[in-house]
Amino acid sequence: MRNVTIDNVTDIVIKSLGDSGEITPRNREILTSLIRHLHDFCREAKIQHDEFLFACDYLARAGKICDDKRQEFILLGDILGVEVLVDMLTHPAEGTESESTVLGPFYRENPPVLPKGASTVQKHFDDEESVYFEGYVRDADGNGVAGVTLDVWEDAPNGLYENHDPNQPDFNLRGRFVTDEAGHYAFRAIRPVPYPIPDNETAGELLRAMGHHPNRPGHMHFILAKDGYRTLVSQVYDSDSAWLDNDSVFAVKESLVGQFKPAGDDLDTDLHIQFDFVMKAEAAAMAAE
Ligand code: BEZ
Ligand code: FE
Repeated sequence: MRNVTIDNVTDIVIKSLGDSGEITPRNREILTSLIRHLHDFCREAKIQHDEFLFACDYLARAGKICDDKRQEFILLGDILGVEVLVDMLTHPAEGTESESTVLGPFYRENPPVLPKGASTVQKHFDDEESVYFEGYVRDADGNGVAGVTLDVWEDAPNGLYENHDPNQPDFNLRGRFVTDEAGHYAFRAIRPVPYPIPDNETAGELLRAMGHHPNRPGHMHFILAKDGYRTLVSQVYDSDSAWLDNDSVFAVKESLVGQFKPAGDDLDTDLHIQFDFVMKAEAAAMAAE
């Protein structure tokens, strides 16, 4: 222990992990791997002390700007592709279950509960395109699943989520819907537009250091939940949107791209999209893990 070297420091730190009741097997596994990878990273990139101090200051600055509206660490994780990786590790795509993707930092719990077919739009924008969004939620056998709650949220045509825009009403473009007896859901909304993720402060510094842009393709967020089924956190992307092939947070999956088509005369909206989901029953989900 007195003769710590570049080569033995990693094993020494890992061996120092105690065995009191406070260290769980999972904590030990995570810390062992974290120490090993952090040390290997420092050795490989030959991290210098001024760079270590810069990183400490950077993380302190990121922490200071976190509040109930801005979760900087989720954003940094998104920009580095960590949230999408962790999501795929948590919900590996299996069988026919719909693919999940990142939650992102803009979800708000307890959105307004709205009847099937209602609109999430509380404030209109000149350049908005209204859309009738509908589809079925099915199980792995193709049966419609009744009573699934769908939380939906999206940005406005100015590229801002309502909780980041003082000029939008509370919970604008957010709602909670429930599938009917056949597993069908429907709501009215507006076509989601591409937007830049927050690119000031530490998130912006990281994007610039990576030479990356902040833009995301237009998408509608969904959380589907029902007891007995694995909760599905996902997004539906507009097939005509810019940035589908170069998303700043790497969250696009081909199976989540849907088509916004001109609405038929039977609808009162500009556009119409049909998008079905498959949820996995919890017992089946657990057996496969
Ligand atoms: C979003 O889709 O809302 C989002 C995801 C990751 C980072 C920022 C925003
Ligand atoms: Fe989003």
